[in-house]
Amino acid sequence: MIRQEGSLRPSYKKSVIRRIFGNEMDQEIRDIIIKHGSNILCSDTFKETFDQTHHYKTTVGDHILGVTVEAVKVCLRHNQTDDQTLGNVVTSCLCHDLGIVGRDEKYNNNFETLIWHPKDSAEVYKELTGEEDERVLDAIHSHMFPLKPPMPKHREGWILTWADKISASMDILQIPPVTVEEREELLELAEKEQE
Ligand SMILES: [Fe+2]
Ligand SMILES: [Fe+2]
Repeated sequence: MIRQEGSLRPSYKKSVIRRIFGNEMDQEIRDIIIKHGSNILCSDTFKETFDQTHHYKTTVGDHILGVTVEAVKVCLRHNQTDDQTLGNVVTSCLCHDLGIVGRDEKYNNNFETLIWHPKDSAEVYKELTGEEDERVLDAIHSHMFPLKPPMPKHREGWILTWADKISASMDILQIPPVTVEEREELLELAEKEQE
């Protein structure tokens, strides 16, 4: 058999990596995100995230969705499935990088972005939801750990910082954390949920 290595190997590698670390969004994961995050997904603030490039080739919005799917997978894998934990995790993930939107106008360089965007994301979370949950705030503030303190105090923060690293790595490897179809379906279901 003739193998067309040049054309097949890259996509084969990506599909293997996606299978191991991937964020395929099955029905259970989708239902959890819709249940706890449809209000955020339907907000004008969230829609803006798809207009800003992030990690070279993806958008802030697609990165955020990848983080959220990975975090929910961690919760399911480790039986962290009570409503409060899932709600905190989904909210933290969906809001963790909202403060980075408009980065070119807000920050002078990558260092400033690293330092300030968690704090700005926490402000967006408060404005968007009207909530100030201590665990959600802690998770958003600490999501850049270990690149930047503080260290997470609660499990939600550890789940977010782990999921953020996995999803960011996939962004950089140009393996879409969620497919276009998965993203569109999720956003459509969120709109229906909010009607
Ligand atoms: Fe971030
Ligand atoms: Fe992130």
